[in-house]
Amino acid sequence: MYALARPFLFCLDAERAHDLALISIEAAYRTGLNPLLAQRPAPLPTTAFGIGFPNPVGLAAGLDKNGAHIDALAGLGFGFIEIGTTTPRAQPGNPKPRMFRLPEHEAVINRLGFNNGGVDALVRNAEKATFSGVLGINIGRNKDTPNERAVDDYLHSLERVYPRAGYITVNISSPNTQGLRDIQEKETLKRFIGTLRERQEQLATQHGLRKPMLLKIAPDLDEAELDAISEVSLAARIDGLICTNTTVDRSAIASARHGQEAGGLSGKPLLEKATKVLQGMSRRLGGKIPLLGVGGILDGADAAAKIAAGASLVQFYTGMVYRGPALIGACVEALRTQRNESMR
Ligand code: FNR
Repeated sequence: MYALARPFLFCLDAERAHDLALISIEAAYRTGLNPLLAQRPAPLPTTAFGIGFPNPVGLAAGLDKNGAHIDALAGLGFGFIEIGTTTPRAQPGNPKPRMFRLPEHEAVINRLGFNNGGVDALVRNAEKATFSGVLGINIGRNKDTPNERAVDDYLHSLERVYPRAGYITVNISSPNTQGLRDIQEKETLKRFIGTLRERQEQLATQHGLRKPMLLKIAPDLDEAELDAISEVSLAARIDGLICTNTTVDRSAIASARHGQEAGGLSGKPLLEKATKVLQGMSRRLGGKIPLLGVGGILDGADAAAKIAAGASLVQFYTGMVYRGPALIGACVEALRTQRNESMR
């Protein structure tokens, strides 16, 4: 079905195609036609961060920024859905055009800049959804909040999303909010994570339920920076790391049309780089902190490579653009085969 729709969608500007695809998925869900879009995979139960997942293949953040399509997306067969990034106040994001397809590389460049309706709107949407599976909620800071006060934005959203979230992702790795990635610096990160971890434990007591908090990191970090993040994560006993966000590296696509657009690059050219960061983190953490692998998954073998590199769960976004919802089942089946082989 997606194979039929793709040429039409690819005639449109990337952001319009994205909006139309979401409307179509929503319409298919509401009319009961969603089995035509994707066959739901058979369960592949997985436990991570103390939570049970029906399968380890999730939707990455950014596709449903406001949580307006949770039930429809979950209906495609994802093992979990991550919505956001959301910010305390609504903001328009960067001027359009701000999203570009690079079809010959199965890649996307985006500089959306956390366009979203604000955390209260996201929470209202999430509360309306009937989805009872694992809902990750990804939080960030507003563009006009300086980094010195960034933690206040995260604390505000953490409190707002906490009751509805299955887990919370702290996004400090988007390249499209100026200065955001500087929070990954060791001393800054130590203070920042310390404050959020404290509030997480207070919220756990207050609500009588502990929700995991994950940190999402960039792929453009050198060895010393990865050392620092792993040290801080271990010391703060963070629940998990998501490796990785989009890259600012253009070396793999330098001569492509749109290749020099500013923003974050995702999809196939990110696979190797993101998997290397995941593997490096896995080696550093020695299984003490669960990892979620994302970046460049375009087929089942890519998903299996993330698990082999140390991930407990995987996610994708750009794979939805190039392969459609059938990629969910393809990944689940590849991971089932991988699991069966490892048990032999
Ligand atoms: C993203 N991504 C993203 N990540 C995040 O933490 N918050 C966000 O708001 C967004 N927004 C966003 C928009 C668009 C258009 C894209 C393509 C990506 C990053 C995404 O979740 C993922 O980490 C990377 O895209 C790498 O995975 P894929 O796309 O290669 O599977």
